[in-house]
Amino acid sequence: MSILQTENLTKIYGDGENAVHALRGINLTVEKGEFTAIVGTSGSGKSTLLHMLGGLDRPTTGKVMVDGKDIFSLSEEQLTIFRRRKIGFVFQSYNLVPVLNLYENIVLPLELDGKKIDREYIDQIAETLGLKDRLEALPNQLSGGQQQRVAIARALAGTPSIILADEPTGNLDSKTSQDVLSLLKVTSEKFGQTIVMITHNEEIAQMADRIIHIEDGCIFRRN
Ligand SMILES: Nc1ncnc2c1ncn2[C@@H]1O[C@H](COP(=O)(O)OP(=O)(O)OP(=O)(O)O)[C@@H](O)[C@H]1O
Ligand SMILES: [Mg+2]
Repeated sequence: MSILQTENLTKIYGDGENAVHALRGINLTVEKGEFTAIVGTSGSGKSTLLHMLGGLDRPTTGKVMVDGKDIFSLSEEQLTIFRRRKIGFVFQSYNLVPVLNLYENIVLPLELDGKKIDREYIDQIAETLGLKDRLEALPNQLSGGQQQRVAIARALAGTPSIILADEPTGNLDSKTSQDVLSLLKVTSEKFGQTIVMITHNEEIAQMADRIIHIEDGCIFRRN
């Protein structure tokens, strides 16, 4: 069953002479539980696509369907709720709050959303990601790889059905990148999540179920 689908998605930034055609008609289907990597040169439209998939920005034309529902038919308020409930974002920068310990960072979005915290589930995520003994630590007491694992735990804490990751290992060395990605894979399999991840790293891309190549706003190769 497909969880995520785009129909002729286009995005033009600016207009007239300054118009940038960032996406030129993307048709993409992602199956539930699938791990898809998106690769492509700088400026090819990867982040733009990811932002549309997560409802962070609206396309110029075309649709994004999540569970068969056109997300851009929602009002801004409904779209915000959709993002909080369905999508977990992981970015290249970890964006942890320095004065909060790891546990507090992980549950912060849930608290902001007024959700009940399932401590057992949080502990399971922390354990899978190898963070269980460090939950009292502050972010600056951690390595980059550990901080990114906290950012992943935070994304997973809200039990999203889709994880969207933009260069999640961009600041990590090759060994740490592979470790973090393996953990992301294990957790997403365990909790039945779908992953779409942008990466420049071929080795990391090879860990996905399939790779989609984007060039100049078009998908030009799938394998
Ligand atoms: N907010 C914006 N306003 C105007 N142009 C933009 C905006 N965001 C992106 N673009 C342009 O759209 C094109 C695609 O950008 P995008 O950020 O999606 O590329 P990318 O593939 O993620 O690149 P990178 O690998 O460098 O992150 C680029 O030409 C970029 O300059
Ligand atoms: Mg980008």
